[in-house]
Amino acid sequence: MPVTCVYGMQWGDEGKGRIVDLLAAKSDIVVRYQGGANAGHTVIVGEEKYVLHLLPSGVIQPNTINIVGNGVVVDPWILMHEVDHLAGRGISLDGRLLVSDRAHVVLPHHKTMDQALETLRGADALGTTSRGIGPAYGDKFRRAGMRVADLLHPDRYEEILQANIGAWNAILDKAGMDPIDVASVIDETRAIGERIRPYAADTAAVLLEAMKAGRAILCEGAQGFGLDVDHGSYPFVTSSTTGPAGVSAGTGLPPTALDRIVGIVKAYTTRVGAGPFPTQDTGPSGRHLGEAGHEFGATTGRPRDCGWFDGVLARRAAFTQGATAISLMKLDCLSGLDEIKLCTSYELDGRRVDAPPAWAGDWERCTPVYETFPGWSEDISGARRFEDLPAAARTYVRRVQEVLETPVEVISVGAEREQFIPLEGGIPVPV
Ligand code: IMO
Ligand code: MG
Repeated sequence: MPVTCVYGMQWGDEGKGRIVDLLAAKSDIVVRYQGGANAGHTVIVGEEKYVLHLLPSGVIQPNTINIVGNGVVVDPWILMHEVDHLAGRGISLDGRLLVSDRAHVVLPHHKTMDQALETLRGADALGTTSRGIGPAYGDKFRRAGMRVADLLHPDRYEEILQANIGAWNAILDKAGMDPIDVASVIDETRAIGERIRPYAADTAAVLLEAMKAGRAILCEGAQGFGLDVDHGSYPFVTSSTTGPAGVSAGTGLPPTALDRIVGIVKAYTTRVGAGPFPTQDTGPSGRHLGEAGHEFGATTGRPRDCGWFDGVLARRAAFTQGATAISLMKLDCLSGLDEIKLCTSYELDGRRVDAPPAWAGDWERCTPVYETFPGWSEDISGARRFEDLPAAARTYVRRVQEVLETPVEVISVGAEREQFIPLEGGIPVPV
């Protein structure tokens, strides 16, 4: 698997960190290509639990080189905090972390602005993670941002910050809010620039050379397809291209580089923050999923809304992003439900809808059309082969594979590293 991408097919929190950790064991390089510290990727190794926001989840595997690509918006304080935290737990990143000199920087006032913009939206607030993501990407695309390369040049960044903060202060002033103090941002920025310096590099060049040499590169997506800035439930999305479509732009690898594209889905659906969620279940089944899946945000601690597998969203995520394989996560969390529902289409104004509508207001009004399956009560966390699963579970996952028209090559049945069923070539279809 020379160049592989792992991406989320729902509204984030699919278990990407877990799969990246698994694949990183066979990779030379792991690279994040978009998003920022809004991500919360969890890796569990025995008694140890690691929650990463900015560093690639590949860092937990000791022999990997890890890259924060140019498409990421880098909060240098959080980055260094994660580096120090891991060092304190015996995981050294010396010589195996690189940060793109083209990556944009999330500055303290981006977080202030994230919250201010949410306040100004009032009842229409997006429920962001308050990590400054929208304002930092906004600055990038209006060509007023600061990049890692600038952070290393104090003579350059004063001018950039003056102009950048001036524009934000005009908005704050209109809203009757306190302005951002340019001098204090400049002060804070100076010290952190020196800490980032040893890691900054032309990471596209590093990746291209590695690709030429045939080394295994793993591209780690954050967030998920439902949060994609183009294809997701706009405006209730994040500000980046979450799938493999973002890999080339966010790393410098060519668009033809990807050999394998692994879409990650949970066996059910969760969402945190505002926006449409047709298959949400607010009754006992949704509560069961929340409890069994410990569905609390890894970044904000917010409880996640829970519901059934949304085949309309996941199909679109598989087809538009070219998934070559699926990892189906947290199947064990469905154990104990009397029945399990799977949404295969929506109904809107009396008509059948097979793709998510463009307008979030319409998406919100969609009612799911469900297929209903009998549940199972067995604890399946010990299953390591497909045949170990109860018949009801086999029927359900077979149908998921059919709906996605893509082979399910991993089924996870627990949070531990070894708690999964490998399925080379997908789930066998009975003849
Ligand atoms: P991982 O990588 C789940 C959601 C927020 C909000 C919207 C916009 O762990 O899957 P932002 O801070 O990005 O401007 O917020 O996106 N969101 C996530 N939800 N998992 C994530 O990351 C998310 N990152 C952002 O809750 O609805
Ligand atoms: Mg998460």
